[in-house]
Amino acid sequence: MNQARLSAIGMAVPEKKVVNSFYETLIDTTDEWIQSRTGIKTRYHTEQDEFTSHLCVKAVQDMVERYRVNLDDVDMIIVSTVTPDQPMPSMACQVQHRLNMPRAGAFDAYAACAGFSYGVVLAKGLIAAGTHQKVLVIGADTLSKVTDFSDRTSCVLFGDGAGAVLIEAADTGNIGDCVTAANGENGPDLYISGFAETIDGQPLKMNRTIVQNGKKVFKWAVIKVAEQMRVLAEKNGLTLDQIDWFVPHSANLRIIEAICNETGFPMEKVLESIVDYGNTSSASIPIALNNGILSGKVKRGDKVMLLGFGGGLAYAGTIIVW
Ligand code: UT7
Repeated sequence: MNQARLSAIGMAVPEKKVVNSFYETLIDTTDEWIQSRTGIKTRYHTEQDEFTSHLCVKAVQDMVERYRVNLDDVDMIIVSTVTPDQPMPSMACQVQHRLNMPRAGAFDAYAACAGFSYGVVLAKGLIAAGTHQKVLVIGADTLSKVTDFSDRTSCVLFGDGAGAVLIEAADTGNIGDCVTAANGENGPDLYISGFAETIDGQPLKMNRTIVQNGKKVFKWAVIKVAEQMRVLAEKNGLTLDQIDWFVPHSANLRIIEAICNETGFPMEKVLESIVDYGNTSSASIPIALNNGILSGKVKRGDKVMLLGFGGGLAYAGTIIVW
């Protein structure tokens, strides 16, 4: 029984809904520009006293309520985030404490928008190794906490959220072969400042904000994700037309459309979370998958390709059979 099975999912976003007109009062922008260049209509932002750990806990609670999951024997918690409440203790330890999982190991993984996919790959590996049987993987970020609200090229993009899945040892697994890779040389194209003064010898802004070269990341994402979709399908002995649903990281609707254009994959078979939630970093894939399942689009037995990409620049993906 060392096959890995993704068996349950949940999500959470803060209550505060932020519409595009909010930014028209802050910077030189319009609802029309935001929707046409990014696809985003709304996103949710945490209050000042609401943090990533709160969203992690709510996402797990949502999963527990809907799937009647027993947390007592969870033996590992992996939280993917680049916006922990604080660097230490980890978000995973906070979740372990607040949801009372005495048997669980706990640590945070750090791969930005690719982090949730890395977490799934890690969980599968732990189960395949036989060292763990029940792993909670959470992707959660509160990018609104590190947003520079005077930078119109980035501030309109980001939302806060969390998604949680349970990955269990089973006789029949449902997580396929994976890809994990990075282009660290492009790190300066997307970073959160405020920890060091330079990256690769290049000076950084000193306040703690997210900074990106949007155009470069856009182009990299389209080329890399289109290429990796084919690699991932081939590794799993499938062709792209055998994939029922594609769940890329939701960074920009135009990135997703360009990837579909490049690969010939139909947009109708994409699950995205960008339009209603903005770019929620580590949470974007589990939120899109969760809503695809809740809406009845994703049916039992469907093959779903997950592909995360972002800061690092790192990427990771796998194919699950729901
Ligand atoms: O999670 C992964 C990390 N991030 C990404 O993947 C981001 C990837 N990149 C993107 O999503 C897009 O590049 C952006 C949404 C960031 C920008 O869209 P774009 O189509 O690449 O716009 P652009 O940078 O080419 O800018 C076009 C114009 C510029 O004006 P000029 O120079 O042509 O006069 C910008 O100054 O749009 C202007 N602009 C805006 N105008 C109104 C940039 N941001 C805004 C804004 N409102 N918010």
